[in-house]
Amino acid sequence: MKPLQQILAEADQQKAAVGHFNISDLVALKAVYLAAREVNVPLLVGVSEGERDFIGVRQIAALVRSLREQNDFPIYLNADHTHSLDKAREAAQAGFDLVVFDGSALPFEENVAKTKQAVSEMKAINPSILVEGELGFIGSSSSIHDKIPEGMSPMTTPEQASEFVRRTAVDVLAPAVGTMHGMLKSMVKGETRKHVDPARIAAIKLATGKPLTLHGGSGTDDQGFLDAIQAGITIVHINTELRVAWRRGLESALAKRPDEVVPYKLLPDVVEAVKQVAYSRLQLFNTRLKSAAAH
Ligand code: G3H
Ligand code: ZN
Repeated sequence: MKPLQQILAEADQQKAAVGHFNISDLVALKAVYLAAREVNVPLLVGVSEGERDFIGVRQIAALVRSLREQNDFPIYLNADHTHSLDKAREAAQAGFDLVVFDGSALPFEENVAKTKQAVSEMKAINPSILVEGELGFIGSSSSIHDKIPEGMSPMTTPEQASEFVRRTAVDVLAPAVGTMHGMLKSMVKGETRKHVDPARIAAIKLATGKPLTLHGGSGTDDQGFLDAIQAGITIVHINTELRVAWRRGLESALAKRPDEVVPYKLLPDVVEAVKQVAYSRLQLFNTRLKSAAAH
């Protein structure tokens, strides 16, 4: 199995992005795994602190490892939005491939100090684990909002990004480049979209030379994703779109079979709904790769 670092380097070189999908249960894990197998691209599964409290830290690590080993499939696991060193250590000890240490709500100096400490502690537990740092607060909840979350940071500058990467030694950087976590109601209806700033992404890429992650991907327009990837985004995070699909899939399964109580007869509709979203996002994130392979 290729190390995640190599997967990211290849994505950078191919101007493709690795899809990162957050999951809370076996249904969504199955869905994103089946989508990645169909598109035939590597997959990054993410679990935030809340998601791993629900599914279990060692349990999700064991599930992802079993999928990886059973079919020799490049599936990797990320401890998404980790706010404390204790939670970061727990994930590293369980065998996660990546930890996103999230100091984005802290003042710059405090974010640098805490992230730097996280990097050194994570590497002491597992020298090949990757650590991502976050610079710029873009909201904290992958849910449906009435209005833009309060306290959003201005977008990250290339100067800040370069200083942050140099001082913390993170392997991956998540800058604020126009998106936010979650979706406005108008985005769920498809009436509005998020917009990224490709020129800023390109400047941050040049200033840091690191793989960059786009958080808050749900509701971004397709061309925005393509421009962001072309400009240097290496990982794209999607959560709310999958959660919306999960809920709609469940509602439709329950409506179709009002008397059904057998979970494995109801839940395939949820798997299918989540899978469709992951499939179309993975196709989009790998557009250049797929079109190069077709020629
Ligand atoms: O870390 C997870 C995300 O950045 C997902 O954001 O819910 O807006 O897709 P989203
Ligand atoms: Zn995020």
